[in-house]
Amino acid sequence: MSHAPNTATGSSRRNFLRQVGVTGGAGAMLATMGALGLAPTAEAASREAAFRAPTESDFNLKGKGRGAKVVIVGGGIAGLTSAYELGKAGYDCTVLEARDRTGGRNFTVRGGDSTQDLYGNRQTARFSDGQYMNAGPARIPQWMITMDYCRELGVPVEVFTNSNASAYIYNEKAGMTEAVRYRTAKADTYGYVSELLAKATNLGALDADLTTDDKAKLLSFLESFGDIGKELKYTGSEHRGFTVDPGAAGTPGTELGSVPSASEVFASGVGRYFSFEFGYDQAMLMFQPVGGMDRIPAALTKAVGSRKIHTGAVVQQITDKAHGVTVTYKQDGRTRAIDADYCIAALPPHILAKTAHNLGSAVQTALEAVKPVSSGKIGLEYRNRWWETDHRIYGGITETDMDLSHIWYPSYGFHGKRGLIIGYYNTGTNADTYALLSPAEREARAVAQGVKIHGEQYRTELATSFSHHWRQTPHLEGAWHSMSGGPDAATYAPLNKAAGRVYFAGDYLSYADAWQHGAFSSARKVVTTLHERVLA
Ligand code: PHE
Repeated sequence: MSHAPNTATGSSRRNFLRQVGVTGGAGAMLATMGALGLAPTAEAASREAAFRAPTESDFNLKGKGRGAKVVIVGGGIAGLTSAYELGKAGYDCTVLEARDRTGGRNFTVRGGDSTQDLYGNRQTARFSDGQYMNAGPARIPQWMITMDYCRELGVPVEVFTNSNASAYIYNEKAGMTEAVRYRTAKADTYGYVSELLAKATNLGALDADLTTDDKAKLLSFLESFGDIGKELKYTGSEHRGFTVDPGAAGTPGTELGSVPSASEVFASGVGRYFSFEFGYDQAMLMFQPVGGMDRIPAALTKAVGSRKIHTGAVVQQITDKAHGVTVTYKQDGRTRAIDADYCIAALPPHILAKTAHNLGSAVQTALEAVKPVSSGKIGLEYRNRWWETDHRIYGGITETDMDLSHIWYPSYGFHGKRGLIIGYYNTGTNADTYALLSPAEREARAVAQGVKIHGEQYRTELATSFSHHWRQTPHLEGAWHSMSGGPDAATYAPLNKAAGRVYFAGDYLSYADAWQHGAFSSARKVVTTLHERVLA
């Protein structure tokens, strides 16, 4: 999807993998383990080689003193991970978190939770017991190291349904008058594409590219892929779905009728969503922590120890000095100062850009070049799970070209009494438009659009709602980032190394911006460099 501009391109991802491949020590060790049959695959070995947590024994082995003091500004995933990993090696870490809870953008909203946004809107969630919305991160690809932290921290995970053949597509601007199921849209699109490609093949259009044998193989692939039969013509398919489902003998089922023409299918624009699930970061299976995404920062917070974390502590100034760092912060109306050997700035770059520091103009210019991106979500709690009973939709996402963008059905609580849908998940100007409305108006606008897909029960069964917008969230002021050229562009070089004794960490300094994986990897990189410096 286009809304996370700082996502790795194929070539930068290959570069990254190459870099991982050339790291020494642990990698060589794992390669040896691989030869012994202890490491499962070369791929796993290279992934693991990217990081080995600093440990107590590093100090013992080198006969170094322990307890270097590190102040970490920001208690989101990057900050907590820094404290967690350095803690393993006996560093004395203090985390300063401006908000009243840790986790940063990892925020799970449950009944009783309150927020106030920068426009002054106050909300208290009225969700019932067991219902929650992940206002920030909500899905985890299998390959991301977020999964490794879940395993290590004992956070149970369950499948998150990212794509569902039964979910809908509704492109109002393209002239669709009713929503179409993914399975139907795919059957029609693949059917006609297969027919057209078969036709081109048989007309000789591909003769320069394919041998007679290749052509036969291609035609046989298209025949099954598009379900176009021996005649190589698309006339509908059971892939589209049924109006009467197949059942007992005597009930073969009734295939969904009124097959649109090829021209109608292409005009509807349904095909534009199909490649989403091919993305390296969006392909099924995906996962979520059982009970809410904030189980991850909760586990990290516990592992770090809450006495090492000061919440409500708003950083005022970061001063790098010859032999240490001083961070001043405001807490409960009082200004305090903390001295440390090192600082990890793990707060949003655009917030740091507004904070007093002496890290130099190159750092300031780099920080200002990171542009925050808007995104918002609304959670709609319903009195019953009509999407399961009436639509047979168990999780997954409906895509639209309306300003709500996406509707997410819950991947937890199946067959329960109540359920919670994400009624919009939008970005950029769509998110800004909703943010300007009152919470009640946001609900009304999202529901009016949802009714076009799901009918009146989308309104009548609604119990309560809660909306959240990251650009308008105090101390965070952004959902993710736009960085031209990516994190390794020359502009950002000053942030990819220490400024004196101050290090920078966050998803923005990774090829997985807008993913916890980015924050975890960035934190791992920073603690590794810091630790190497302390050991040297
Ligand atoms: N990680 C976020 C999500 O999955 C934002 C994002 C969307 C990032 C699409 C990359 C691609 O919704």
